[in-house]
Amino acid sequence: MGLRLDYSNMMISPGGIDQRTGAGAGKQFAEAKRGFDSLRASGTVGFVDLPNDRGLLEQVTRFSAAARGKYDDVVILGIGGSALGPIALRTALRPSGWNMLDEKARSGFPRLHVLDNVDPETIAALLDRLQLARTLFIVTSKSGGTAETMAQFLIVHDRIVSARLDVRKQLVFVTDPKQGALRPLAQRLNVPALDIPPNVGGRFSVLTPVGTLPAALIGIDVKSILEGAGAMARRCDNPDLSGNPAGVYAMLQWLAHTELNKSIAVFMPYSDPLRDFAGWVVQLWAESLGKTRPDGTSVGSTPLAALGATDQHAQVQLFMEGPANKTITFVSVKVKGTDVKIPGGFPDVKELGYLAGHTLGELIDVEQRATAGALARRGRPNMTIHLDRVDASHVGELMMFLEIATAYAGQLYGIDAFDQPGVELGKQFAYALLGRPGADAARKEWETLPKSDPRWSV
Ligand code: PA5
Repeated sequence: MGLRLDYSNMMISPGGIDQRTGAGAGKQFAEAKRGFDSLRASGTVGFVDLPNDRGLLEQVTRFSAAARGKYDDVVILGIGGSALGPIALRTALRPSGWNMLDEKARSGFPRLHVLDNVDPETIAALLDRLQLARTLFIVTSKSGGTAETMAQFLIVHDRIVSARLDVRKQLVFVTDPKQGALRPLAQRLNVPALDIPPNVGGRFSVLTPVGTLPAALIGIDVKSILEGAGAMARRCDNPDLSGNPAGVYAMLQWLAHTELNKSIAVFMPYSDPLRDFAGWVVQLWAESLGKTRPDGTSVGSTPLAALGATDQHAQVQLFMEGPANKTITFVSVKVKGTDVKIPGGFPDVKELGYLAGHTLGELIDVEQRATAGALARRGRPNMTIHLDRVDASHVGELMMFLEIATAYAGQLYGIDAFDQPGVELGKQFAYALLGRPGADAARKEWETLPKSDPRWSV
């Protein structure tokens, strides 16, 4: 069965969305859907159509088949939307501790490392441990010019050349088909390059070779991911709000924020395989919806990642009794990849005896239901996404569901969910400080900023 969203605990009274708050939701959704549909029809936004893009799948299948057996390690050079999707896919769809397993346990597929930063400690340590001749570096950048990724590339390129290896065998680029520095560089170096369609931006690109290439290289069933995503895209095209899961999710989050002041949206899977999925969701929601509208008002709820049951012992106290400014989205997985029976022993010790005969799977499920119920009891709205299992098809569904929900939420907030103008000024300042040509204006603006004042430093 496909993904199911149970939002009964969003409709609680008091504390939740009542009929008054939700009145008019159908009409508001129809308008939001019209807005999103016209972006799709004009070709401005293309992520929903990715499951049908045979050409992209073909690029990935061909490249990964030719690479089989040639590499022990795959390293993604990239950041943000170029990194978080592959991390989420690896954690969800490969056995736990993938990079620590030996070759046999990995069925001959390589390890996957994703840099997602420019901290010298991590990069130096990783490069020192790799056998370069058995490593494939995927340089992923939609814009083909992100400073962090370009720095990673320069370092890796230098290492490959210094080791007298062939860059054409150790490198592959994933980038826009036309724009940015990586495309011409691919031609110059004769390095293979796979496409990110021009109308798919970083955080919506996991179903392009950004996510599917590394996934295929480590043996994940990419076709099933795309099939699951395609099925969800069809469900979320339903004009009737009550039958449209992404529409309902977007509407609930938007109403909870704008009508009930729930400015924090917690995403809390009760599943270790989905632990890194929460990080991907946080970026998707934050960078898409945190925007200033033309009239100067700022919008967007703040996403927060949590993990069940772990965060019952860290954050749930805050969710339960702290400011009533949150919605909590749980993800519950029915069938675990494996389950472990809790053995008997110490029946006379009441803290232990009752656990005997249950399984860890039961325990984690019960904890999720208990936490959801307790939050509802305290008037804290929450909802649960039910998945039958964490497999390629369900993960594809879940990704497409959240991407479309984000797009609908963008329409409801009245903003462009697909740009990120807010990060531009910081980038320009960094360029100015590093002496990139063309950053003179940013340099001048930087000079006008208040400088660090010793009076305000301890
Ligand atoms: O979602 C986005 O657009 C960003 O987070 C980008 O993915 C990130 O800035 C990296 O950009 P690029 O892929 O162009 O290197």
